[in-house]
Amino acid sequence: MRKEISWLQILIQCRSNIQEQIAPLLRKLDQPQPNLGIGAGGDPIKKIDMVAENAIVNTLRKYEISFTLISEESGAKEYGEKVDECYVTTDPIDGTTNLMRGVPFYATSIAISTKPKLSKVHTALVADLFHGITYTAQKGHGSCRNNQKITPSNNVSLEDAVIGIDLNSYKVQRIVPQLTALIERTKHIRHFGANALELCYVADGTTDAFIDIRGKLRTTDVAAAWLIIEEAGAIMTTPDGKPLDIKLDPGEKVEFIAAGNHEMHKTILSLIKPEKEAK
Ligand code: IPD
Ligand code: CA
Repeated sequence: MRKEISWLQILIQCRSNIQEQIAPLLRKLDQPQPNLGIGAGGDPIKKIDMVAENAIVNTLRKYEISFTLISEESGAKEYGEKVDECYVTTDPIDGTTNLMRGVPFYATSIAISTKPKLSKVHTALVADLFHGITYTAQKGHGSCRNNQKITPSNNVSLEDAVIGIDLNSYKVQRIVPQLTALIERTKHIRHFGANALELCYVADGTTDAFIDIRGKLRTTDVAAAWLIIEEAGAIMTTPDGKPLDIKLDPGEKVEFIAAGNHEMHKTILSLIKPEKEAK
Protein backbone atom coordinates (compact mmCIF):
# COMPACT_ATOMS: atom_id res chain seq x y z
CA MET A 1 0.00 0.00 0.00
CA ARG A 2 1.27 3.47 -0.83
CA LYS A 3 2.19 5.14 2.46
CA GLU A 4 1.01 8.69 1.77
CA ILE A 5 -2.66 7.72 1.32
CA SER A 6 -4.78 7.12 4.44
CA TRP A 7 -7.35 4.36 4.76
CA LEU A 8 -10.04 6.99 5.06
CA GLN A 9 -9.08 8.56 1.74
CA ILE A 10 -9.12 5.13 0.11
CA LEU A 11 -12.59 4.36 1.47
CA ILE A 12 -13.87 7.70 0.21
CA GLN A 13 -12.41 6.85 -3.18
CA CYS A 14 -14.27 3.49 -3.02
CA ARG A 15 -17.53 5.33 -2.36
CA SER A 16 -16.99 7.68 -5.31
CA ASN A 17 -16.15 4.78 -7.61
CA ILE A 18 -19.27 2.88 -6.53
CA GLN A 19 -21.43 5.91 -7.28
CA GLU A 20 -19.83 6.27 -10.70
CA GLN A 21 -20.11 2.57 -11.56
CA ILE A 22 -23.72 2.05 -10.50
CA ALA A 23 -25.01 5.27 -12.08
CA PRO A 24 -25.28 3.87 -15.65
CA LEU A 25 -27.40 0.96 -14.32
CA LEU A 26 -29.94 3.23 -12.70
CA ARG A 27 -32.76 5.48 -13.73
CA LYS A 28 -33.24 8.50 -11.51
CA LEU A 29 -32.23 7.29 -8.05
CA ASP A 30 -35.59 8.02 -6.45
CA GLN A 31 -37.61 5.94 -8.89
CA PRO A 32 -38.19 2.20 -9.20
CA GLN A 33 -35.28 0.71 -11.10
CA PRO A 34 -35.37 -1.14 -14.41
CA ASN A 35 -34.75 -4.85 -14.48
CA LEU A 36 -31.01 -5.09 -13.81
CA GLY A 37 -30.55 -8.65 -15.01
CA ILE A 38 -29.56 -11.74 -13.09
CA GLY A 39 -26.51 -11.60 -10.80
CA ALA A 40 -23.97 -14.34 -10.15
CA GLY A 41 -26.12 -15.99 -7.47
CA GLY A 42 -29.09 -16.21 -9.85
CA ASP A 43 -30.81 -13.51 -7.83
CA PRO A 44 -32.36 -10.82 -10.05
CA ILE A 45 -31.57 -7.94 -7.70
CA LYS A 46 -27.91 -8.72 -7.17
CA LYS A 47 -26.22 -7.38 -10.28
CA ILE A 48 -26.02 -3.90 -8.82
CA ASP A 49 -24.46 -5.28 -5.63
CA MET A 50 -21.77 -7.04 -7.69
CA VAL A 51 -20.98 -3.88 -9.63
CA ALA A 52 -20.57 -2.05 -6.32
CA GLU A 53 -18.36 -4.82 -4.93
CA ASN A 54 -16.15 -4.75 -8.05
CA ALA A 55 -15.76 -0.99 -7.64
CA ILE A 56 -14.41 -1.56 -4.11
CA VAL A 57 -12.02 -4.34 -5.17
CA ASN A 58 -10.72 -2.37 -8.17
CA THR A 59 -10.10 0.72 -6.05
CA LEU A 60 -8.10 -1.24 -3.46
CA ARG A 61 -6.10 -3.05 -6.14
CA LYS A 62 -5.31 0.30 -7.79
CA TYR A 63 -3.62 1.26 -4.51
CA GLU A 64 -1.75 -2.11 -4.61
CA ILE A 65 -3.38 -3.28 -1.40
CA SER A 66 -3.38 -7.01 -0.58
CA PHE A 67 -6.43 -8.08 1.39
CA THR A 68 -9.03 -10.67 2.25
CA LEU A 69 -12.45 -9.54 1.13
CA ILE A 70 -15.37 -10.55 3.37
CA SER A 71 -18.41 -9.60 1.38
CA GLU A 72 -22.11 -10.17 1.59
CA GLU A 73 -22.04 -10.73 -2.16
CA SER A 74 -19.19 -13.07 -3.02
CA GLY A 75 -18.20 -14.42 0.39
CA ALA A 76 -14.51 -14.54 1.34
CA LYS A 77 -11.94 -13.94 -1.41
CA GLU A 78 -8.22 -13.18 -1.36
CA TYR A 79 -6.49 -10.49 -3.42
CA GLY A 80 -2.70 -10.08 -3.61
CA GLU A 81 -0.07 -11.69 -1.38
CA LYS A 82 -0.25 -10.70 2.31
CA VAL A 83 -3.92 -11.50 2.59
CA ASP A 84 -3.94 -12.10 6.35
CA GLU A 85 -2.80 -8.58 7.27
CA CYS A 86 -5.82 -6.69 6.02
CA TYR A 87 -9.52 -7.63 6.00
CA VAL A 88 -12.10 -5.65 4.09
CA THR A 89 -15.60 -6.42 5.32
CA THR A 90 -18.34 -5.01 3.15
CA ASP A 91 -21.96 -4.93 2.25
CA PRO A 92 -21.53 -3.11 -1.08
CA ILE A 93 -25.22 -2.12 -1.14
CA ASP A 94 -27.18 -2.28 2.12
CA GLY A 95 -30.86 -1.71 1.36
CA THR A 96 -30.96 -3.19 -2.14
CA THR A 97 -34.74 -3.61 -1.98
CA ASN A 98 -35.13 0.09 -1.18
CA LEU A 99 -32.89 1.00 -4.09
CA MET A 100 -34.83 -1.22 -6.48
CA ARG A 101 -38.18 0.19 -5.33
CA GLY A 102 -37.08 3.83 -5.47
CA VAL A 103 -37.08 4.23 -1.67
CA PRO A 104 -34.24 6.72 -1.06
CA PHE A 105 -32.53 4.88 1.80
CA TYR A 106 -29.58 2.64 0.96
CA ALA A 107 -25.86 2.67 1.66
CA THR A 108 -22.44 1.25 1.07
CA SER A 109 -20.71 -0.20 4.13
CA ILE A 110 -16.95 -0.90 4.29
CA ALA A 111 -14.83 -1.79 7.34
CA ILE A 112 -11.06 -2.33 7.45
CA SER A 113 -9.55 -4.56 10.13
CA THR A 114 -6.26 -6.24 10.94
CA LYS A 115 -8.00 -9.53 11.78
CA PRO A 116 -11.40 -10.99 10.83
CA LYS A 117 -12.85 -9.79 14.16
CA LEU A 118 -15.17 -6.89 14.91
CA SER A 119 -12.88 -5.60 17.68
CA LYS A 120 -10.03 -5.25 15.17
CA VAL A 121 -11.89 -2.86 12.85
CA HIS A 122 -9.88 0.39 12.72
CA THR A 123 -11.42 2.37 9.87
CA ALA A 124 -15.02 2.43 8.68
CA LEU A 125 -17.28 4.12 6.16
CA VAL A 126 -21.04 3.97 5.66
CA ALA A 127 -22.22 6.15 2.79
CA ASP A 128 -25.85 7.08 2.16
CA LEU A 129 -25.72 6.91 -1.63
CA PHE A 130 -28.92 8.86 -2.24
CA HIS A 131 -28.45 11.86 0.04
CA GLY A 132 -24.68 12.18 -0.32
CA ILE A 133 -24.09 11.72 3.42
CA THR A 134 -20.96 9.85 4.47
CA TYR A 135 -20.32 8.52 7.95
CA THR A 136 -16.72 7.65 8.82
CA ALA A 137 -14.79 6.53 11.88
CA GLN A 138 -11.18 5.85 12.78
CA LYS A 139 -10.31 4.01 15.97
CA GLY A 140 -9.43 6.53 18.68
CA HIS A 141 -10.42 9.54 16.57
CA GLY A 142 -14.20 9.71 16.82
CA SER A 143 -16.87 9.48 14.14
CA CYS A 144 -17.94 12.00 11.53
CA ARG A 145 -20.89 12.76 9.29
CA ASN A 146 -19.61 14.57 6.19
CA ASN A 147 -16.42 15.40 8.11
CA GLN A 148 -18.23 16.92 11.11
CA LYS A 149 -17.82 15.14 14.48
CA ILE A 150 -21.00 13.43 15.66
CA THR A 151 -22.41 12.55 19.07
CA PRO A 152 -25.41 10.36 19.91
CA SER A 153 -28.69 11.36 21.52
CA ASN A 154 -28.83 12.01 25.25
CA ASN A 155 -32.57 11.35 25.39
CA VAL A 156 -33.43 8.85 28.12
CA SER A 157 -37.21 8.89 27.82
CA LEU A 158 -39.04 6.25 25.80
CA GLU A 159 -41.95 8.66 25.54
CA ASP A 160 -39.91 10.97 23.34
CA ALA A 161 -37.77 8.31 21.72
CA VAL A 162 -37.51 7.28 18.08
CA ILE A 163 -36.45 3.65 18.13
CA GLY A 164 -35.71 1.47 15.13
CA ILE A 165 -36.67 -2.19 15.36
CA ASP A 166 -36.04 -4.63 12.55
CA LEU A 167 -39.08 -6.92 12.50
CA ASN A 168 -38.33 -8.07 8.98
CA SER A 169 -38.48 -11.77 9.77
CA TYR A 170 -40.57 -14.86 9.39
CA LYS A 171 -39.82 -15.56 13.06
CA VAL A 172 -42.30 -12.99 14.43
CA GLN A 173 -43.75 -15.56 16.84
CA ARG A 174 -40.38 -15.63 18.58
CA ILE A 175 -39.34 -11.99 18.43
CA VAL A 176 -42.58 -10.02 18.88
CA PRO A 177 -43.34 -11.41 22.40
CA GLN A 178 -39.79 -10.49 23.38
CA LEU A 179 -40.30 -6.91 22.21
CA THR A 180 -43.93 -6.22 23.19
CA ALA A 181 -43.17 -4.38 26.45
CA LEU A 182 -40.70 -2.09 24.70
CA ILE A 183 -43.04 -1.36 21.77
CA GLU A 184 -45.91 -0.58 24.17
CA ARG A 185 -43.85 2.08 25.94
CA THR A 186 -42.15 3.69 22.94
CA LYS A 187 -43.79 6.59 21.16
CA HIS A 188 -42.15 6.24 17.73
CA ILE A 189 -41.09 2.91 16.23
CA ARG A 190 -39.33 2.84 12.85
CA HIS A 191 -37.58 0.59 10.34
CA PHE A 192 -36.15 2.23 7.26
CA GLY A 193 -34.67 -0.86 5.55
CA ALA A 194 -30.87 -0.51 5.56
CA ASN A 195 -29.47 -1.55 8.91
CA ALA A 196 -25.94 -0.15 8.46
CA LEU A 197 -27.38 3.31 7.88
CA GLU A 198 -29.92 2.94 10.69
CA LEU A 199 -27.04 2.28 13.09
CA CYS A 200 -25.36 5.48 11.88
CA TYR A 201 -28.59 7.31 12.75
CA VAL A 202 -28.07 6.13 16.34
CA ALA A 203 -24.44 7.28 16.20
CA ASP A 204 -25.38 10.85 15.24
CA GLY A 205 -28.52 11.13 17.39
CA THR A 206 -31.02 11.14 14.52
CA THR A 207 -32.68 8.23 16.34
CA ASP A 208 -32.28 7.04 19.93
CA ALA A 209 -31.81 3.31 19.42
CA PHE A 210 -31.87 0.48 16.89
CA ILE A 211 -32.59 -3.16 17.68
CA ASP A 212 -32.20 -6.32 15.65
CA ILE A 213 -32.76 -9.58 17.55
CA ARG A 214 -33.83 -11.65 14.54
CA GLY A 215 -30.61 -13.67 14.37
CA LYS A 216 -30.62 -13.07 10.65
CA LEU A 217 -28.40 -10.04 10.01
CA ARG A 218 -24.97 -10.77 8.56
CA THR A 219 -21.85 -9.42 10.24
CA THR A 220 -20.97 -7.82 6.88
CA ASP A 221 -23.84 -5.36 7.48
CA VAL A 222 -22.65 -4.17 10.91
CA ALA A 223 -18.83 -4.18 10.77
CA ALA A 224 -18.46 -0.54 9.69
CA ALA A 225 -21.44 0.83 11.63
CA TRP A 226 -20.16 -0.80 14.83
CA LEU A 227 -17.00 1.37 14.80
CA ILE A 228 -19.04 4.45 13.90
CA ILE A 229 -21.32 3.76 16.90
CA GLU A 230 -18.41 3.08 19.28
CA GLU A 231 -16.35 6.08 18.23
CA ALA A 232 -19.38 8.39 18.43
CA GLY A 233 -19.86 7.32 22.06
CA ALA A 234 -23.06 5.30 21.59
CA ILE A 235 -23.51 1.72 22.88
CA MET A 236 -23.94 -1.52 20.95
CA THR A 237 -24.11 -4.92 22.68
CA THR A 238 -25.63 -8.36 22.40
CA PRO A 239 -29.30 -8.55 23.52
CA ASP A 240 -28.08 -9.58 26.99
CA GLY A 241 -25.75 -6.62 27.32
CA LYS A 242 -22.40 -8.28 26.48
CA PRO A 243 -19.75 -6.72 24.21
CA LEU A 244 -20.23 -7.62 20.57
CA ASP A 245 -17.04 -9.40 19.66
CA ILE A 246 -18.04 -11.36 16.63
CA LYS A 247 -16.15 -13.08 13.87
CA LEU A 248 -16.20 -11.26 10.55
CA ASP A 249 -17.37 -13.96 8.21
CA PRO A 250 -19.96 -13.94 5.41
CA GLY A 251 -21.87 -16.77 7.14
CA GLU A 252 -21.84 -15.29 10.66
CA LYS A 253 -25.07 -13.74 12.00
CA VAL A 254 -25.48 -11.08 14.68
CA GLU A 255 -28.15 -9.80 17.10
CA PHE A 256 -27.77 -6.47 18.88
CA ILE A 257 -29.17 -3.61 20.89
CA ALA A 258 -27.72 -0.21 19.93
CA ALA A 259 -28.60 2.92 21.89
CA GLY A 260 -27.43 6.51 22.10
CA ASN A 261 -26.54 6.40 25.80
CA HIS A 262 -26.14 4.00 28.73
CA GLU A 263 -29.43 4.86 30.36
CA MET A 264 -31.48 4.30 27.21
CA HIS A 265 -29.55 1.07 26.60
CA LYS A 266 -30.27 -0.13 30.15
CA THR A 267 -33.97 0.68 29.84
CA ILE A 268 -34.26 -1.21 26.57
CA LEU A 269 -32.40 -4.24 27.97
CA SER A 270 -34.74 -4.32 30.96
CA LEU A 271 -37.80 -4.38 28.69
CA ILE A 272 -36.68 -7.04 26.22
CA LYS A 273 -37.66 -10.47 27.44
CA PRO A 274 -35.27 -13.37 26.99
CA GLU A 275 -36.63 -15.90 24.47
CA LYS A 276 -37.45 -18.56 27.07
CA GLU A 277 -39.56 -16.15 29.15
CA ALA A 278 -41.45 -14.68 26.20
CA LYS A 279 -43.77 -17.55 25.24
C1 IPD B 1 -30.86 -5.78 4.38
C2 IPD B 1 -31.19 -4.49 5.13
C3 IPD B 1 -32.52 -4.67 5.83
C4 IPD B 1 -32.51 -5.87 6.77
C5 IPD B 1 -32.09 -7.13 6.02
C6 IPD B 1 -30.74 -6.92 5.35
P1 IPD B 1 -29.51 -5.92 2.10
O1 IPD B 1 -29.64 -5.67 3.72
O2 IPD B 1 -30.17 -4.13 6.05
O3 IPD B 1 -32.83 -3.52 6.57
O4 IPD B 1 -33.81 -6.06 7.28
O5 IPD B 1 -31.99 -8.23 6.95
O6 IPD B 1 -30.41 -8.10 4.65
O7 IPD B 1 -30.01 -7.32 1.84
O8 IPD B 1 -30.33 -4.90 1.44
O9 IPD B 1 -28.07 -5.78 1.90
CA1 CA C 1 -26.49 -6.07 0.45
